[in-house]
Amino acid sequence: MTEVAQAPSTGKDDEEAGGPGGDLRRRQKRRTADLAPQDLHSPAADQQVRLSVVVPTRNEAENVPALLSRLGPALAPLPAEIIVVDDSDDDTVDVLTRHAAEASVAVRLLHRPPHARSGGLGGAVLLGARHARGEWVLVMDADLQHPPESAGRLAAVAMRHDVDLVIGTRYAGEGSHEGLDGMAREVTSSWATRLAKSLFPRRLTTVSDPMSGLFAFRRAAVDLDRVNPIGFKVLLELLVRHPGARVAEVAYEMAPRHAGRSKASLREGLTFLRHLWRLRSQRLIGQMRERPAAARDRLRELTRMIAFGLVGLSGMVVNTAALWFFYEPAKLHHLLGATLATQLSTAWNFALIDALIYRRHRQGSRTGRAARFFLLNNALLLLRLPALQALVWAGFGILAANALTLVALFLVRFLINDRVIYAPGGIGRRDPVRMLVNLNAPEAVATPSRKRYQYLKYRYDVAGVVTIGSQIMLPELEFFRAQWVADSDVDIAVRVSDVGGRVPRRRAAMTEYANESVLRYEEHLGRLGANFRIRLGSPIDIQVGPLLARSPHVVYTNIVEALLRFVLVSRGHMLLHSACVSLNGVGVMLSALTDTGKTATVLRLLRDHGGLFLSDDMTLVNADGVATCFPKPLTISAHTLRAVQARDLTPAEWRRLQFQSRLHSKGGRSLALTLSRFNVPIMGINALTQRLVPPPKYSVDRLVPCRIGTSTKVEELFIIERGTPRIGDLGKDETLERMIQNTDDAYGFPPFRYLAPAITIDGQGYAQLREREREILTGFLSHVRSRVVASDRFGWADEIPRLLHAERGDLPTEPQVVLPSWPQWSGAPAPSGARA
Ligand code: GDD
Ligand code: MN
Repeated sequence: MTEVAQAPSTGKDDEEAGGPGGDLRRRQKRRTADLAPQDLHSPAADQQVRLSVVVPTRNEAENVPALLSRLGPALAPLPAEIIVVDDSDDDTVDVLTRHAAEASVAVRLLHRPPHARSGGLGGAVLLGARHARGEWVLVMDADLQHPPESAGRLAAVAMRHDVDLVIGTRYAGEGSHEGLDGMAREVTSSWATRLAKSLFPRRLTTVSDPMSGLFAFRRAAVDLDRVNPIGFKVLLELLVRHPGARVAEVAYEMAPRHAGRSKASLREGLTFLRHLWRLRSQRLIGQMRERPAAARDRLRELTRMIAFGLVGLSGMVVNTAALWFFYEPAKLHHLLGATLATQLSTAWNFALIDALIYRRHRQGSRTGRAARFFLLNNALLLLRLPALQALVWAGFGILAANALTLVALFLVRFLINDRVIYAPGGIGRRDPVRMLVNLNAPEAVATPSRKRYQYLKYRYDVAGVVTIGSQIMLPELEFFRAQWVADSDVDIAVRVSDVGGRVPRRRAAMTEYANESVLRYEEHLGRLGANFRIRLGSPIDIQVGPLLARSPHVVYTNIVEALLRFVLVSRGHMLLHSACVSLNGVGVMLSALTDTGKTATVLRLLRDHGGLFLSDDMTLVNADGVATCFPKPLTISAHTLRAVQARDLTPAEWRRLQFQSRLHSKGGRSLALTLSRFNVPIMGINALTQRLVPPPKYSVDRLVPCRIGTSTKVEELFIIERGTPRIGDLGKDETLERMIQNTDDAYGFPPFRYLAPAITIDGQGYAQLREREREILTGFLSHVRSRVVASDRFGWADEIPRLLHAERGDLPTEPQVVLPSWPQWSGAPAPSGARA
């Protein structure tokens, strides 16, 4: 047997984090962590490990060889290491040592001697994770129930996506639990899942398999000191302790055990219940201690407490009357009477509390809330009954004693209601959209519907770089209209089709078919909802449901532009969130946080100083410092109105604008963003809103007489801010970060967050595309001088020309050559078309 570091015993299972034993526990934990992994095999020592595969083993000698030989190829594409955490008493270590030599990945071993096996499987996983060198940790069983091929692909999906925790699920999509041995195990497993989900309805909402033993997590997103699992359910504890972690699921088929016996037992079942109880009670106490931070919120809580007390008083009347009835005329035993009375008053209280006090805090189903409310009151009843009996023995009247026990538990009842049952979600809540990746099964081939034609009626050529064909008109791209592009030549095709199932669903879902590169987003309303499907190929096929088809702005902004952005990146261009004009031949770019006053500044610059317009929202830039026009219609927000002159619009337009601009300004958007954190069909709401009140969009030359330039060499970048007037240079690095952040902000609206990480274009994944985009931007900025201009009275349009004039003197006004005849684009845009 190989020599293995010995760890001192950690004694019995460590108890809860924090509390008096916390220090001791941490010290013990550190001691266990001192157990150093032994390198069994390290083929490429210089390689930077990105993934650590933690495999807990207990008497798995027969499975280890097959595990290593199958895991090797599965992990080959990822720089990975395997960390086996072993608690075996058989010859697992010997077998492992022998076979590790032939493995194609690094293999490390942590063997815990019999006295150092705290936490069982859970403790082993945690120990392995502490020694992980990779940025990601994948946890899987050694018995091949988690097929290594699936595990490898799960890890690859995880590392590609912008999430923290990826769960292998047997209970969603194409997943299956065939591999569970026997009916009994299947039934237990599904009931255990249900039990856990009902105890943690919020934290486990989007998770279909919280008991899974196959999962991966981002090391940085998990605080290992906060988890202390006993027994098998490590994942459950990770989920409960990390409410803010972004979760996705990957469907896989569980296989039967390869050899040997399962270590699940009745004892493990009891440990599970103990674990669940511990998690729930600790969380409950934690929740009850969560005092609102702001004074205003504490005041509100006090108001609710008073209201709660009043309802409670009325409930006490009901309770007392009922008890009297059961005890006196009905002649029941007083404890039975109190029990029945409590059911009545609980129903009474629930109806009032749910409808009056917590009307705006309600979450989940009414049945669920009622169940929790009854559970709470009956649990408290168990405490009250002995007290009631004691009081009766002490000589109190039954009714008085009953009332006393009710009053005594008032505070507990209130706190649990206020901070647990009706707790506001808010920060740290899970994303409302379910994310599921199917590894194998192909999406049922969508045969082109015979009801609808396939022809792409509107065709666009974006600056000669990307072509788009669409069945619906995309107003944002109208400038690039290019009917000469053939249907078959488009890079992106947008068609109208039925997407998604016929029946409504409980939450929105983004489903990905990894091997088909198909993504499907579906909302609550079945086919009526704002659904879409994307097939990433050439061309990229986008199918939008009928609701979306009627809101082209939503289709463009939330779907097409996101894809366009990355296709552009793959061809060396970046769609940068900024405005661009050419003033007297000098390319000037403006950047600002949303709603600072960028559009108004552009309009005023053009009105007062002439010049060419290139873009207002997104500018197409390349690494040579060249900006190409991207003249989407301008959105007029409330404060942009200042820069618009009423006489440029018809009176009806002007009146409508007052209203539209309010709805579609920052307030409207942030309301939508807030909504998007809840389980609502956000795209549908957005599409309907835009349909009822279309955003105020006007072509720039409608608002101010000007010409549109095709491209310009950008020399000056001004980041405009509100605040005490100042002008200051900005370093290259900071500019880069700001521009990236600012661009990300522009894409912050869902479902981009769920969609983007799944994007692959020409073999480049999301992370690679982002990296490439950064390079393009770095190149672009290297040609540009960047400055911050702050103003407290929207003075940027005066400040900037004054600055340029002072520094450059009077530049000769160049002939304002612009858009020559169509078709114009010929390959890449000329470096400085506007000035040619
Ligand atoms: N180090 C260590 N210590 N490993 C252990 C221990 C232990 O005390 N107990 C079990 N293991 C290892 C096994 O060697 C195996 O690699 C893995 O943990 C899973 O154990 P099984 O005995 O095969 O458990 P199972 O198949 O019944 O349970 C699996 O499925 C459950 C869901 O149905 C596990 O993945 C569970 O985590 C999961 O909840
Ligand atoms: Mn197993």
